Amino acid sequence: MFANSYGDKSRRRFLTQTGLGLLAYAGLPGWLQAMEGMPEMPKMPERRADPTFKADVEIELRCQPGSVAIMVGEPTRVWQYSAHLLHGSAGTVTEIPSSYLGPIIRLHQGQKVRIHLYNGLPETSITHWHGLHVPADMDGHPLYAVASGEKRVYEFEVVNRAGLNIYHPHPHETTAKQVYYGLAGALFVHDDEEAALGLPSGAYELPLVIQDRLFDAQNQLIYVRNRHDRMAGFYGDRILVNGWADLQVDVDSRAYRLRLLNGSTARIYKLAWDDGTPLTVLGVDGGLLERPETKPYVMLAPGERLDVWADFSGRAVGTELTMVSLPFSGVLPMMGMMMQGNGLPVGSHYPVFTFKITRKVSDSPKLPAILSHFKRYTLQDTANPEKPVPIAIGESPMAMTLNGRPYAYNDVLPSERIPVNTVQLLEISHEGGMMGHGGMGGMRHGMGGMRGGMGGGMMSMAHPIHLHGQQFQILSRTAPAHDEAYASVRDGFIDSGLKDTVLVMPGETVRIIKPFQDFKGLFMYHCHNLEHEDMGMMRDFLVE
Ligand code: C2O
Ligand code: CU
Ligand code: CU
Repeated sequence: MFANSYGDKSRRRFLTQTGLGLLAYAGLPGWLQAMEGMPEMPKMPERRADPTFKADVEIELRCQPGSVAIMVGEPTRVWQYSAHLLHGSAGTVTEIPSSYLGPIIRLHQGQKVRIHLYNGLPETSITHWHGLHVPADMDGHPLYAVASGEKRVYEFEVVNRAGLNIYHPHPHETTAKQVYYGLAGALFVHDDEEAALGLPSGAYELPLVIQDRLFDAQNQLIYVRNRHDRMAGFYGDRILVNGWADLQVDVDSRAYRLRLLNGSTARIYKLAWDDGTPLTVLGVDGGLLERPETKPYVMLAPGERLDVWADFSGRAVGTELTMVSLPFSGVLPMMGMMMQGNGLPVGSHYPVFTFKITRKVSDSPKLPAILSHFKRYTLQDTANPEKPVPIAIGESPMAMTLNGRPYAYNDVLPSERIPVNTVQLLEISHEGGMMGHGGMGGMRHGMGGMRGGMGGGMMSMAHPIHLHGQQFQILSRTAPAHDEAYASVRDGFIDSGLKDTVLVMPGETVRIIKPFQDFKGLFMYHCHNLEHEDMGMMRDFLVE
């Protein structure tokens, strides 16, 4: 199913013509070597339902091959989730019509949830609830992977505040592929604080899952063809929203709430309205901000979410408004820029979806001035204000690592052992020595980049770093000095809310404060460029 027939030949010709052939294919086995010798994960016994756990919501969730009409012509073979509500209120599970995406799951804070996961794929999988704070053995760690034809029962209580989360596979080294072929879904949590605001809901709240895909002439998905498709991350030339191509939505002339989720494996978006209207942001990964913020544009990296207030009142019937991705630079190394052409380069200008105002209505809700309250941590709340827990991004043609090591089970470093019920300061940075001095600006432009590349500098790129467990707060960003690429993205970060994924630009250092409460055990942290994750840019924290 995943074989592909097209791509490598023309690509190799391109490489040879540009003189990059040797560089591109040198050292090929390096990263493979790095991934060998990882201790095998032990096989965990199947987990069954606990009869003493009284579930408010019970769902049967299957992942299996299927086929969906995405483009005109042949249907596309995909992998997809399907869900069946066994117990709970209607509205808990909503199918997205003609989409490979899993149904939208809506939970409420305080609910006890039981999910029966059936693996109908021809290979191992495990499902993770990205954004939810659940016990380690309910989090979808690859340690609990489910073999083809087997199942696993999850039981947890929803302790999260209101927010948009994601469910997606998390098996060792095959997460990206499984997500790419269709396995992902939106998981909303609602709570009373959110409900009291009376934000647009029902038909006026639109989940919008943004992904990119590459199709062959028979409408079948093409995935990673060579090492570079992994090094830079895999990019399609088609933007799909909720699994649909060229999405246009008919709307009334009133306010809507847009719930955006970047479900792409690697693509980073710089979202903005095409007519220059600023974006009004209500929330991010971990739910509502304290108050709305307006931004000229917002960067949305894989795994990140965005809650947007879109007010079409006063707009004339028949007019359109398009959400676009604006030009930016710096997120990919020069090599990546060349390798990820496919007709839709990252950082080029392209439409994402369009609204068409088709109906005039007279009333529209007002934007609340205050949205929510949450505990804001300071350095004084952390157990380690002088000694941040390091997350050092290592990116070289040889290996994708964190803290100098590719993912391995049961390979916890002293700095990765976290005492339970503490609040920690963490510092995400790029491994030293790669970038030389004076920032990265020169490296990514012109021939300077080529020379830098031999020393590894050309590998430097942006990484959306995701931490499992509780959401964190962003304390500070230290930007690279005099970097014009950074200037093209810097106004698009929303650092005032609760996050579980943060985009870290080349040369940038980000300090975060994260609580590690309630649950002991292994909690992953990794790059949410899923190709990077699968190459080893993932580690575990052992909360103990
Ligand atoms: Cu969205 Cu560890 O993943
Ligand atoms: Cu996650
Ligand atoms: Cu990465």
